[in-house]
Amino acid sequence: MTDAPPTVRAQRPRQGTELELEIDSLAQGGRGVARADGYVVFVAGALPGDRVRARLTRSKRTYGEAKTVELLRPSSERVADHCLHDGEPCPGAPWQGMAYERQLAEKAAQVDDALRRIGRLDGFELEPIEPAVEQWRYRNKLEYSFGAGAGESDLALGFHRRGNWADVVEVEDCLLASQRNNRARNQVRDWARREAIPAYDRRAQAGVLRNLVVREGRRTGELQTRLVTSPAEFPRPPVDLHTVIDGPGGGTDGPTGVLGAEHLHEELAGLRFRVSHTAFLQTNTEMAERLYAIAGELAGLRGRERLFDLFCGIGAIGLSLAGSAGEVWGLESVAEAIADAEHNGEANGIANARFVGADARLGIRPLLERAGAPDVVVVDPPRAGLSSKVVRRLLECDAPRVVYVSCNPTTLAPDAAQMVEAGYTLRRVKPVDMFPHTPHVECVALLEN
Ligand SMILES: C[S@@+](CC[C@H](N)C(=O)[O-])C[C@H]1O[C@@H](n2cnc3c(N)ncnc32)[C@H](O)[C@@H]1O
Repeated sequence: MTDAPPTVRAQRPRQGTELELEIDSLAQGGRGVARADGYVVFVAGALPGDRVRARLTRSKRTYGEAKTVELLRPSSERVADHCLHDGEPCPGAPWQGMAYERQLAEKAAQVDDALRRIGRLDGFELEPIEPAVEQWRYRNKLEYSFGAGAGESDLALGFHRRGNWADVVEVEDCLLASQRNNRARNQVRDWARREAIPAYDRRAQAGVLRNLVVREGRRTGELQTRLVTSPAEFPRPPVDLHTVIDGPGGGTDGPTGVLGAEHLHEELAGLRFRVSHTAFLQTNTEMAERLYAIAGELAGLRGRERLFDLFCGIGAIGLSLAGSAGEVWGLESVAEAIADAEHNGEANGIANARFVGADARLGIRPLLERAGAPDVVVVDPPRAGLSSKVVRRLLECDAPRVVYVSCNPTTLAPDAAQMVEAGYTLRRVKPVDMFPHTPHVECVALLEN
C-alpha cells in the first residue's frame, strides 16, 4: 500500500496516451500504483509486480488514472485466476490473481493506512484481520446485466466487461455465487432467449431486459429472482419479482410486482430474518455472523444496557444482541426494512427491541428524547459513512461506547477523527474479510468516551 507523494513533471502524459508501466503497490480502493518518470498513475486491472500497457483515462496535474489494456509481464507472485468468463477474469474478483494471504495483508494495511493517514489517528490496537470462511461461492446476492450476445445468440446475461460498460460478458458459472444461483440465472437467460425478448440498449434507449437480481437465503435454502425491465408486453417471466424502470437511467430500483415469493428469509446468529427486496442484507451470510459476533464482543454488553442500533436495516445486529442488553432501539431510513425489523423481533420472540423509521440526520434527536441516553451505540452506515452532521448527533447521545461497523475505512477515518476530537478514544479496530478477491474490507471499531 502506498501513500504516493504527488509529483509534478514538466510534461505530463495526455489523456488517451498508452504507457508501459510497472506496478509497485496497491492504493486505497485496490488499484495498482505505478510511476511514469515520477508521475503517479493509478492503474485499474493490475497487481503489484505486473508490467502492463495501460491507457490513461484521466490526466490530472499531480496524478493520472489508467486502465490496463494488456498484461505484458505478469508478476512472478501471481496465482492462477479461477473465476473466468469468456476467458476473461471475473470483474467481481479483481484481486483473484493475488494469493489469499497477500490479499488479507493488503486489506489490514488499507485499514491501518486510512486511519493513520486520513484520520491522523494513532494509539489504537489494530487486531489481526478475520479471514473469510469461504474464499469462493460466498455471495448470497448477485446482480447480472443483460446485453447483446456474441456468436450464436443475440442475448447475453452476465457482467459488464471491465472498462467497457456497453459490453456484457456471458456468465456460465460465476465462482462468487452458489451453483443454485448460477442455475437460476441460466434458466432466466434461456427463457429470455426462447421468448426472443431483446436486451435493453442504453445508448439506443431501446429494448426490454435490463437486469436480473438473484438473492439466496444460504441457511434457509430459499432463492429469490427479480427481473428488471423497461415497460413492455411479454410472456410472464419465471421469476419472483418484476421491477419496471422507465427511462435511460441505470439502477435496479423501481415499482415492483410480486409473481412468486415476496420475501426472502435468512438465518443469522440463530435467528430467522425476513428480508424485503428493498432491504439491505449483508451479502456474505457466514461472515455477517462473524461480523455481528465481533460487534457484540466490542459492545461489551452485560444484560442491562440501552443499545441504539443506528442504520439497522432488518434489525440483524440489534436483534442478535437483544438477549445481552436491557433494551434495543433500531433506526433505519428504508420503511420496508423497518417493517422487516419489527416483524423479525416479533417472529423471534424478542420483546425488548423497538424500531424507528427515519433518516439518521433527523431521527437521532427524537430517538434520544423518546428512549433516553444509550449506554452503547452501534452504527453501521453505507460506504459514504456518517457525515459530520450525523457524527454531531451521535456525539449528542454521549454514549460511553460506540461500536462502528464500517465497510469503508476511508470514511470511517474522518468520522472516527471527529469523534476523537470531541473526546472519544479509538481503542480497537478489527478488520474483517467479507469479500475475498476484491479490494473491499469491512472493519469494526470501538470508540470509548
Ligand atoms: C451497511 S447497511 C447495514 C444494515 C444492518 N446493520 C445489517 O447489518 O444488516 C446500512 C443501512 O443504512 C441504511 N441507511 C442509509 N442511509 C441512511 C440514513 N441516512 N439514515 C438511516 N438509515 C440509512 C440503509 O438502508 C441500510 O439498511
